[in-house]
Amino acid sequence: MSLRITVLGTGYLGVTHAACMAELGYDVLGMDIDADKVASLTDGNVPFYEPDLEPLLRKHVEAGRLRFTTSYEEIAAFGDVHFLCVGTPQKFNEYAADMRYVDGVIDGLAPHLSRPTLVVGKSTVPVGTAARLADRLAELAPAGSGAELAWNPEFLREGFAVEDTLRPDRLVIGVRSSGAEETLREVYAQAVAAGTPFIVTDFATAELVKASANAFLATKISFINAMAELCEASGADVTQLADAIGHDSRIGRKFLNAGLGFGGGCLPKDIRAFMARAGELGVDQALSFLREIDAINLRRRAHVANLARDACGGSFLGKRVAVLGASFKPNSDDVRDSPALAVAGQIQLQGATVTVYDPRSNENARAVFPTLGYADSAQKACADADLVLHLTEWQEFRDIDPTVLADVVAERSIIDARNALDPVAWRAAGWTYRSLGRP
Ligand code: UDX
Repeated sequence: MSLRITVLGTGYLGVTHAACMAELGYDVLGMDIDADKVASLTDGNVPFYEPDLEPLLRKHVEAGRLRFTTSYEEIAAFGDVHFLCVGTPQKFNEYAADMRYVDGVIDGLAPHLSRPTLVVGKSTVPVGTAARLADRLAELAPAGSGAELAWNPEFLREGFAVEDTLRPDRLVIGVRSSGAEETLREVYAQAVAAGTPFIVTDFATAELVKASANAFLATKISFINAMAELCEASGADVTQLADAIGHDSRIGRKFLNAGLGFGGGCLPKDIRAFMARAGELGVDQALSFLREIDAINLRRRAHVANLARDACGGSFLGKRVAVLGASFKPNSDDVRDSPALAVAGQIQLQGATVTVYDPRSNENARAVFPTLGYADSAQKACADADLVLHLTEWQEFRDIDPTVLADVVAERSIIDARNALDPVAWRAAGWTYRSLGRP
């Protein structure tokens, strides 16, 4: 009989994982403590924007293969493999990760586990967490050491979540027994058969793979943004520089787009939690460079706000600024730690009248920054603007005809903080076009 799968936590990771497990042919039961979320998912609604996810969810909810509940008891009775997918946000006022949701799931689920079962952690956690949770699980579960733990970090990117889950570029599993490894080989049989690298490690290595992958990606972005600072100081072009160094296959061109830097619900908080954990382990020096990575990244936001003030003649007072983009990256409605919103907020606080337009995230942005103005199209946001800021590189913005937008603004002045628009076309349409790290 096919394994029955549960997914604990129905945030970004959990909903995606649940729908994709159903797509792989498993019967899946998802769980969340939030009854409204469970009701909405049961109706086939995904509470955030992720391409391809809602049709997948609907398909499997309608087929009866994917259900949701608020009951740990039901989860324990149903599942052979339980995936732990809750969030690990940054603690208030601290760098460290807040483990209350992860701990809450183990404490809620374990007392109901009376037969042998595998709990698989997918959340991004400080190294050492899996070992701690394995002990707790065995202590609280009636099945004792029959309730086993494995760690299987998730690498999905927002905007490509379904694709990354169905066809991951690698599977990493931290296990303590060959039985746990066999179970996970069975769960991921299709990907394994397709040749996906399947890397079996101990708990600590699996946890560190995730933390170090995110630290590396953040480092790559901040590296190129540091080069952008040098390009700005010397008149060089960071895009050409990135293309040229990217041809070296040891470096690679991906994640070398200079601009406003990284944001979102993962990279910023994950590098901070990583530093905090290194400190606890007495090796804070090993990761002190991540402080600089964080600082370079945050400097981009201040830099764009300064460039914008210069473009407005030295003061924002009485100036209208249009902001194109509010999500932390395109094809997402996620505004968590969004560089675009951070800039919009900063310049408004400095006296500008700011109107934001994002194809998907206006409502989420309004919830975080209710004092900014919001428009329902780029054209409307730019009406009578003294300055346009391009802060999230949606395709819709790349497709804007600069000659058409020229007719609605007060001043043809744009800062392309994602280096994604065509400078030649914008300048030809009479715009003063500025970008980051390019002359
Ligand atoms: C990231 C990791 O990619 C993923 O593997 C991990 O599981 C979770 O964190 P995500 O947060 O979805 O995924 O976003 P990602 O595509 O990595 O982009 C992060 C940020 O970096 C965005 O704000 C993006 O705009 C920025 N970025 C990315 C750049 O500024 N330049 C680049 O070249 C690439």
